[in-house]
Amino acid sequence: MPSVVRAPIRESVRVVGGPDGRIAGPGMAGDGLGLFHRLRLQAPAVADAARPGQFVHVRCAPPGQWDPLLRRPLSLHRIDRSRGEIEVLFRVVGRGTGFLAGLAAGDEVDLIGPLGQGFPTDLAPGETAVLVAGGIGVAPLVALAEELAAKGAPLVAAAGAQTAEGLLAVESLGKAAGEVLTATDDGSAGHRGFVTEVLAGLLDHVARPVVYACGPEPMLRRVQAMLAEEGRRRRGYLSLETRMACGVGACLGCAIRQAKPGTAYYHVCHDGPVFAAEEVVLGG
Ligand SMILES: Cc1cc2nc3c(=O)[nH]c(=O)nc-3n(C[C@H](O)[C@H](O)[C@H](O)COP(=O)(O)OP(=O)(O)OC[C@H]3O[C@@H](n4cnc5c(N)ncnc54)[C@H](O)[C@@H]3O)c2cc1C
Ligand code: FES
Repeated sequence: MPSVVRAPIRESVRVVGGPDGRIAGPGMAGDGLGLFHRLRLQAPAVADAARPGQFVHVRCAPPGQWDPLLRRPLSLHRIDRSRGEIEVLFRVVGRGTGFLAGLAAGDEVDLIGPLGQGFPTDLAPGETAVLVAGGIGVAPLVALAEELAAKGAPLVAAAGAQTAEGLLAVESLGKAAGEVLTATDDGSAGHRGFVTEVLAGLLDHVARPVVYACGPEPMLRRVQAMLAEEGRRRRGYLSLETRMACGVGACLGCAIRQAKPGTAYYHVCHDGPVFAAEEVVLGG
């Protein structure tokens, strides 16, 4: 996929709503680790330029403090250009996300974005978008579903998680996509098993699917293999996550191997995070 690098916007934004959407997931302790939050931010310049699949790089310390030093990448969960707002949906796993979870309406946040390459959303006549989310991987797919729906594109969605509590934003996804097929490892909601099993059923019934997937790497590897099946090769896009430092292609900390022969690497922060499924070697 060609890299389009536009100057990212650095915006000091205000929290307008949040954290809300607090959902208790499996094994969540009193220290807040593992909880999911949604934060709505007044960020007109970023909202105006943003595409689904891009991300923002957020400073996770109070104004004037620099610990932790590195920004944290978060996908654009929703983009509301008319109100100049964006939303992020995140899971608290450490200090950065813990800091964001403690913000209140009116607080100031420093972010850079929109960064990276988003999802291509032009479908040919007869193609249907098939969105597949694993856990917090639903975050960028809601913005994508909303854009596809606004364009009148046919779309279906599937979301999976370990348990029913981990099925996030299914309502928002459903508003744009219509029905959302769900799967949980423990069978507490929807199909008992992996969301890729639900995807297999969809691929059998949708004539010309274009798959958009975001989730844990084992799930993405399975999706990649399904798209590459001999004689049934299909178009699809994967949104990847790596540890990031600079977020703008300068530190080489987010490299991922290109699928073409040789030793070339992409940088997930500016060549991705969205890649055509056949472009990258996952876990390589
Ligand atoms: C492009 C991109 C988009 C992302 N979008 C979202 C999103 O929408 N919502 C969301 O909840 N998270 C998202 N993430 C992951 C998020 O950036 C990390 O969870 C966050 O940076 C952790 O910061 P922390 O300070 O809270 O935790 P840290 O203290 O930095 O880390 C805590 C633990 O989480 C692990 N960890 C941290 N970052 C990652 C990562 N990228 N991949 C795997 N393990 C990690 C660490 O190894 C450690 O075990 C995204 C990551 C990328 C690269
Ligand atoms: S995070 Fe620095 S190059 Fe990607």
